[in-house]
Amino acid sequence: MSDKSSYQKPRIAVLGLGHVGLPTALGFVELGWEVIGADDDASKVAMIQSGKAPFCEPGLDDLLARGLASGRLTLVHCVEEAVRGATILFVCVGTPQKDTGEADLSQVEAIVRTIACNLNGYKLIVEKSTVPAITAQWIKKTLARFAKLGNGPGKLHPEFDVASNPEFLQEGKALENIFRPDRVVVGVESERARALLERLYRPLNCPILLTDVRTAELTKHAANAFLSTKISFINMVADICEAVGADVTQVAAGVGLDPRIGREFLNAGIGFGGYCFPKDLRAFMYLAREHGVDCGLLAEVEKINLRRTEVFLKKVRHAVWVLRGKTMGVLGLAFKGGTDDIRESPALHIIKALLEEGVQLRVHDPQAMEASRQEIPPQAGRLEYCSSPYEAAREADALLILTEWQEYRDLDFRRLNELMEVPVIVDGRNLLNPEIVRASGFEYLCMGRYDVAERTATAVENAS
Ligand code: UDX
Repeated sequence: MSDKSSYQKPRIAVLGLGHVGLPTALGFVELGWEVIGADDDASKVAMIQSGKAPFCEPGLDDLLARGLASGRLTLVHCVEEAVRGATILFVCVGTPQKDTGEADLSQVEAIVRTIACNLNGYKLIVEKSTVPAITAQWIKKTLARFAKLGNGPGKLHPEFDVASNPEFLQEGKALENIFRPDRVVVGVESERARALLERLYRPLNCPILLTDVRTAELTKHAANAFLSTKISFINMVADICEAVGADVTQVAAGVGLDPRIGREFLNAGIGFGGYCFPKDLRAFMYLAREHGVDCGLLAEVEKINLRRTEVFLKKVRHAVWVLRGKTMGVLGLAFKGGTDDIRESPALHIIKALLEEGVQLRVHDPQAMEASRQEIPPQAGRLEYCSSPYEAAREADALLILTEWQEYRDLDFRRLNELMEVPVIVDGRNLLNPEIVRASGFEYLCMGRYDVAERTATAVENAS
């Protein structure tokens, strides 16, 4: 059968312009494709149209400016219009979770129904949002069901393919991940879908793994679950390091030099957060349980992660003794450095716990202040949002590092020391150089590391 769309340059629609959708849309525009970006949130579309990305992502505003200037980017808040105007439809809507851990696919279903009612020609529907490994089945069924209700040529012969092309975008590195991916995973069921997706990704010169749809869906789950496992594993090792007086950063270096293990994602600390890892881990466990597969390993990964707040609080108590009535500076609110995203941020879990313990907090973050204010409003005498790290440290009994912002490494520690009531730093991310901090007169506690001086002091304490 001749396939006109494989010769002409097909138009792309990206449905959902969030942390995944917007960089994806702009990435394809930059690579020379015509893209319609759609989101039913009209104010978000207007903001993007005005040249401002609705969230912080390095390089995104510049890419947006180039995209808008190129003439290849159309932005709409009418999803129907995007569906009708394009051949390849990337579904990038949110997949939040229910209380059970199960993924809530209502946004995906709503989009698919819209697609079904607007099948004005062949469509390749590509799942990019993280979805459980059976979602494509439902998408196909929904398309077949609701296409019958639609108007136009799609009514009698809906022609479509469903594919899975999971995103592996890290917030803060999204553009690097788009233009220089380690790999692209493409799950397809037809030659036509394979050809279209290969054509999109071939110019990136990276390995393209072609699989069936379910395998591609599962690959995403497995990747995130494995990375979460690495983090919980090293956090468990950190606790053992503390117990025996070893240094987890050196253990991570030692094991990470083995190429079978690798050094990345072996940074111990207050645990993983963000929109993906905690949610995807739960969704993967839910899927496993539904199919009678024992997922005890992943349950333990989650348990270790949830315990990190308590491990950190114990350390803070160890540093200051009684918590109630103390003033503490907090550096970092985002779930990791390089983003303004606070979803499932370990820093906010800790802040909430400290507030409950009656600690007065003075907090700072380079990007995530506004979002945090919405989530936890300022409270007179209890929680103050400060304009700089130095303001946060003023008259504090301890300074807590909760997000791995590089700029916190370069603080003037002597100045911080002078501002504080008691010069104590508890570093939940092992961000700072212990020697520099201690040389500036601080008592410094971090995660899973004891230096020789501290070990000797502890040994002396224990002996006396
Ligand atoms: C993640 C995946 O990395 C990405 O491939 C996927 O597509 C989306 O989810 P992201 O949520 O942006 O990306 O965050 P990531 O950089 O993976 O970090 C997740 C969390 O783990 C953060 O809270 C981070 O601070 C924490 N982390 C990361 C550690 O505690 N230790 C580490 O060694 C690495």
